[in-house]
Amino acid sequence: MLEKYVIQGGCKLTGEVNISGAKNAVVAILPATILANGPCVIDNIPDISDVDIITKILKEMGADIQVINKSTLRIDTRNIKVPEVPYELAKHMRASYYFLGALLGKFNSASVAMPGGCDFGVRPIDQHLKGFEALGAHCKLDQGMIIVDAEKLVGGDICFEMVTVGATINVMLAAVKAQGLTVIENAAKEPHIVDLANFLNSMGANIMGAGTDVIKIRGVDILHGTEYSVIPDQIEAGTYMVAAAATKGDVLIKNVIPKHLESITSKLQKIGVEVTEYDDSVRVRYVDELVRTNVKTRPHPGFPTDMQPQMAVLLCLAKGTSIVTEGVWENRFKYIDELRRMGADVSVDGRVAIIEGIEKFVGAPVKAVDLRAGAAMVIAGLAAEGTTEIEDIYHVERGYEHIEDKLRSLGANIKKITIPDNVIGKVL
Ligand code: EPU
Repeated sequence: MLEKYVIQGGCKLTGEVNISGAKNAVVAILPATILANGPCVIDNIPDISDVDIITKILKEMGADIQVINKSTLRIDTRNIKVPEVPYELAKHMRASYYFLGALLGKFNSASVAMPGGCDFGVRPIDQHLKGFEALGAHCKLDQGMIIVDAEKLVGGDICFEMVTVGATINVMLAAVKAQGLTVIENAAKEPHIVDLANFLNSMGANIMGAGTDVIKIRGVDILHGTEYSVIPDQIEAGTYMVAAAATKGDVLIKNVIPKHLESITSKLQKIGVEVTEYDDSVRVRYVDELVRTNVKTRPHPGFPTDMQPQMAVLLCLAKGTSIVTEGVWENRFKYIDELRRMGADVSVDGRVAIIEGIEKFVGAPVKAVDLRAGAAMVIAGLAAEGTTEIEDIYHVERGYEHIEDKLRSLGANIKKITIPDNVIGKVL
């Protein structure tokens, strides 16, 4: 079965849109429920395929999961006995490696297949393993499985060689029940790091300093069940902000934490977009011709790498030459080839893209090469003249809740079409 988005470009987005819970927070919080000695009720869970995969992994391991309503789950992990996530389940997503930290923290042992996820070049996990070792664990790779185990976990000092979201989260998960004090230096400061710390603290953990570059964790013996609401998705919000600007629209983006959007807001303002902040919403309004700027992605509070493709699409529509530098990932410009098919004038040299502003995109058949690149293609399609067909949209569905419904409610002409396998055979 092949699924595609078909977008008829040229409609200005107007109206209001609600932002869902944060993907990169929930993919850490759901595995973290393994550490609880009682049920956890988690609210504001986005309806995305990454969540489906994690809940499937939890269920296959023995967790009892009840759906309370469309965004709330009650998760009881007390029946999980075997700390193992097999390849068939882990291969679909990067965040499956959070099961390493959570299982290690709970059982002093974990065995998880090497993870999948978006392809941005090499994605090593050496810092995760270094962190586990600092807590007294032994790590090895055997037949594609990462195996970590410890006689007992004891708090330790870890200084990461680079700012890494994944390793910061994994070490937090492993350290919350370790004996004594763990100090993480050069920790990541993303909103989802703080959200995970708040979640764990609501279970009885003792984590201090999340959101700064030094996190201190004093181990506790027992973590209890809790009730928790996931923060809004900063990147989903930023994606709608850019979509509003690219279509010359006017959109109120609701259920956000404006502080988390500051770096995106200030870039949009710099290129001439009007952004007004309210308590828990932002209004984005196109005013006049967009002007060029430069963007360099960096760890939080810098401009997020997960907004780089969407912003690059917008800069294609800005007058003048813009330079986008990718400061986090080795290779996150694969989507530029697809964008060129729609008329973009961009040259890429390693981690730098030089974007010459164009009048407009023209619709074309393109692919979503990864999650955020797929969102960028959707934005380009919405702004383009003519029809854009986007393939491989399963990438987009990993991280955006009901994107085509949300965009349609803002006036976009987008539909998802499904081509059954027997028809694909005939077409090919
Ligand atoms: N790195 C290492 N060794 C490690 C870990 C990371 O060299 O052990 C390097 C990476 O190669 C990269 C940099 O450090 O160059 C940062 O990687 P990080 O660990 O921060 O990334 P991640 O945890 O794998 C998360 C998000 C990504 C987001 C990055 C950066 C999740 C599930 N994924 O990935 O989100 O791009 O942080 O903010 O939280 C997305 O949502 O589209 C997405 C890809």
